[in-house]
Amino acid sequence: MRAFGSGRLSSDPLRRRLRRPSPHQRREEAVAFIKRFHEEMALPDEALVTRLRDVRRDLSRHGFYRHTPDELAFGARIAWRNHANCIGRLHWKALEVFDCRSIRNADDIAVQLLQHLRSADANGRIRSQISIFAPVEGDDTPPWIESAQLVRYAGYSDGQGGLQGDPANVELTRTAMQMGWVPPVSRSDFDILPLIIRDKEGRRNLYELPDGSVREVDITHPSIAGLADLKLKWYAVPVVCDMILTIGGIDYPCAPFNGYYMGTEIASRNLLDLPRYNLMDRAADALAVNRADPLYKDRVSTELNHAVLCSFARDNVTITDHHQESDHFIQFIHREKAAGRMPSANWSWIVPPEASATCPVFHQPMQDYHDVPNFYRSSASDGAMLGVSYATEDLNRFQRRFQRVRRRFRSWVRSKS
Ligand code: ARG
Repeated sequence: MRAFGSGRLSSDPLRRRLRRPSPHQRREEAVAFIKRFHEEMALPDEALVTRLRDVRRDLSRHGFYRHTPDELAFGARIAWRNHANCIGRLHWKALEVFDCRSIRNADDIAVQLLQHLRSADANGRIRSQISIFAPVEGDDTPPWIESAQLVRYAGYSDGQGGLQGDPANVELTRTAMQMGWVPPVSRSDFDILPLIIRDKEGRRNLYELPDGSVREVDITHPSIAGLADLKLKWYAVPVVCDMILTIGGIDYPCAPFNGYYMGTEIASRNLLDLPRYNLMDRAADALAVNRADPLYKDRVSTELNHAVLCSFARDNVTITDHHQESDHFIQFIHREKAAGRMPSANWSWIVPPEASATCPVFHQPMQDYHDVPNFYRSSASDGAMLGVSYATEDLNRFQRRFQRVRRRFRSWVRSKS
């Protein structure tokens, strides 16, 4: 991996994004989290008492406390389980957690990120993973990743409205170029940008992803050859880097995570959205869809989704479609309710952009409890609403009683073993 010199020092935009819970709120979140951890892991009551005492003491002495590796892994999984926008939460327990809290230097973070990408890819059988770097402790902000995802395609603006590549990344591309990144001699719509990591002083560090480290899938249609003329492709693993993980009152601003793609994210949104690649008309022509037909956009969208799914399948790269994922999400809701929890969900994010009403999630009432642990982008948008929700466990008194009895039974079993 080639590293470029550090950029100029600038004000720290991370500080502006962080939530600022009061000491009281932080303590409430910490206590609720530690209790939940002990309850769900069925740990003995004595362990809970000791741990709560230590956490309360650390909070009043230092304003923060440190998670044990088990608490960290549990917290990350619960943050995913609580995140209302994600349709893919059925397998939240399978999230692999890498505890990278001791890695504090931008170069070493970059090395770990490459390692994350490699192991997430797993020869196309994509695994859901998170790498968790240092938390915010006191007044110190740790290093963080400025790129929204590990892999981003450059967006080149000519300043007169002309654009090449992904318009979502024009700003990042400009920054990278100012810092000395040189785009390929012949620019394309899919040039992989270097990664930008801010060190704890706020300085930018640029890292080029080495050739061969990013798996990409060429998008072709199994029966309409014309689509290949557009030379479309997309990367296999979306590693989200711009969300802050908050667990028990402690924030982890550098906690990149990945799952695998649902086809609509690429086909219906990244490639077709107006402010993104905006390919509707060119794709219509390439797919030989008649633009005079009032439903031509539906046809293009469907065929492009088909092409994305088939292309990933052809290369043996994990992907899912919106019908399967909607069914899984309904299963997730049932499982959560059976466990005595009310799952949070945000209808406008969960319902897929294709064939919406044919997906069961369309007909499912949803509510977001903004419960912690969770992931957020900024206090100004989603972060400020987060807090301990006591509604998520309020199913009915029989279920609550059942939970209580089960909890006691489990700790009794453990005390015997
Ligand atoms: N929607 C984002 C993208 O298209 C990726 C977000 C995470 N998606 C996922 N399937 N885990 O790149």
